[in-house]
Amino acid sequence: MSDKALNIGDQFPNFEAETNEGKIDFYEWMGNSWAILFSHPSDYTPVCTTELARVASLVPEFLKRGVKPIALSCDTVESHQGWIEDIKSFGKLRSFDYPIIADDKRELAVKLNMLDKDELNADGIPLTCRAVFIIDEKKKLRLSILYPATTGRNFDEILRVIDSLKLTQTKSVATPADWKPGTDCMILPTVKTEDISELFPNGAVCVAVPSGKSYLRFAPQP
Ligand code: BEZ
Repeated sequence: MSDKALNIGDQFPNFEAETNEGKIDFYEWMGNSWAILFSHPSDYTPVCTTELARVASLVPEFLKRGVKPIALSCDTVESHQGWIEDIKSFGKLRSFDYPIIADDKRELAVKLNMLDKDELNADGIPLTCRAVFIIDEKKKLRLSILYPATTGRNFDEILRVIDSLKLTQTKSVATPADWKPGTDCMILPTVKTEDISELFPNGAVCVAVPSGKSYLRFAPQP
């Protein structure tokens, strides 16, 4: 039986795990940073190889945002070490600078509810889906996404979400559909009209709608 699915705002559970960089206590490994934990079905699989190479090339982008990446795959440390050489070769990478958890017994996959019952390996055992967890420095879950094994993730989107999470936790805005950093944001519904000019000195626009309600309020990114 797996544990209850985690919801946004839940405390992310601590765990100990073996990785290609040695044994870690997850909370200690995070320190005061945020983390992105992303899971994979198994080593030496094509989509996973493209994803791990992409994240390796994006390590500076994650670290710039204060987020440490860590992967999980249901194979051993020894297997990860061999696979990393393939990932480096495929991605034309000089180094591979983040850990991969060795969850060969699927303990974490079960604990974190990451198994995909529709995607079985050659032995008929469920594979892990492509889960993404973004965890903040207080160890709270801030985002979770589940992709099927057959669909590789878009890591530009994941960086975009991190930018939105970091912005919206300090400013009175939310980010609209297809928002990109630097473009207009939505003023939160909780902001009173009389407070807008003080909170948004660079201006704000309220879009008229048939209902006559004043809720579509845009402002330049604060
Ligand atoms: C892959 O990484 O390519 C993959 C893994 C499991 C199922 C389908 C694709």
